Amino acid sequence: MASDAPVAGRRITPAELSARKGGDPIVCLTAYTYPIARLLDPHVDLLLIGDSVAMVLHGHPNTLGATMDMMVAHGQAVMRGSSRACVVVDMPAGSYEDTVENAVACARRLVDETGCDAVKLEGGVAIAAQIAAIVAAGIPVMGHIGLLPQSVEKEGGYKIKGRSEANAELLYADARAVEAAGAFSVVIEGTVEPVATEITRRISIPTIGIGASDKCDGQVLVIDDAIGLTVDRVPKFVKEYALLRDTVSKAAADYARDVRSRAFPGPEHLFSLSKDKA
Ligand code: KIV
Repeated sequence: MASDAPVAGRRITPAELSARKGGDPIVCLTAYTYPIARLLDPHVDLLLIGDSVAMVLHGHPNTLGATMDMMVAHGQAVMRGSSRACVVVDMPAGSYEDTVENAVACARRLVDETGCDAVKLEGGVAIAAQIAAIVAAGIPVMGHIGLLPQSVEKEGGYKIKGRSEANAELLYADARAVEAAGAFSVVIEGTVEPVATEITRRISIPTIGIGASDKCDGQVLVIDDAIGLTVDRVPKFVKEYALLRDTVSKAAADYARDVRSRAFPGPEHLFSLSKDKA
């Protein structure tokens, strides 16, 4: 294994991130697996096990395919692969909207079974009671407002938010509701830039933007988008910092060529009768 193995140490806490409002930008990426968590942990402040895992790793058409079991399994893997980043696990659709009691029970399960530092829920005014109850139960909460991927079927697609004055007012109300309910930070997704900037100015907790504004207190991207592993459409708000899909395709093609021509395995990959290392 490489030398970036997780070392026993102290994780960045939600309270420390909250205190960074208006200060150094908060660096967040999603992570779903042990090796990716190990590679990202030294570089980021926050690792998010987003329910995007349902699409990115499991091939579902949207995030509605995420389940509690899925979030727990990936949360455990990311916790094993990290030691310093604050780790937040998404509450999947269906685990918190209906009743405050179910929201608290599901949040408790995510924290107890993964050891994560906080949970994230989508919505503002509509789920403020759930956020307040989870916070009251001692579990830090990250909010998520603007474009809400779990509402894709209800909304008939992914719609950028804040284009009309009336819609912007709804977003300001959502942001205030999440802040008042006690969230330590809030993701703003798919929202026109001036509205995301204004939300950041108006509330006292850090805003984490994705397709939002460079003025947000931090930024988050889906890891597969950021490293160019996304094989379908790459959204406008994504910057690709590597093109791993090309690297993976080329490696697979080279391997196939070598196997078919018997160039692999070579003598250096084979065991002889004398003792040699695996
Ligand atoms: O599920 C996810 O990956 C997210 C981020 C896009 C913020 O919620």
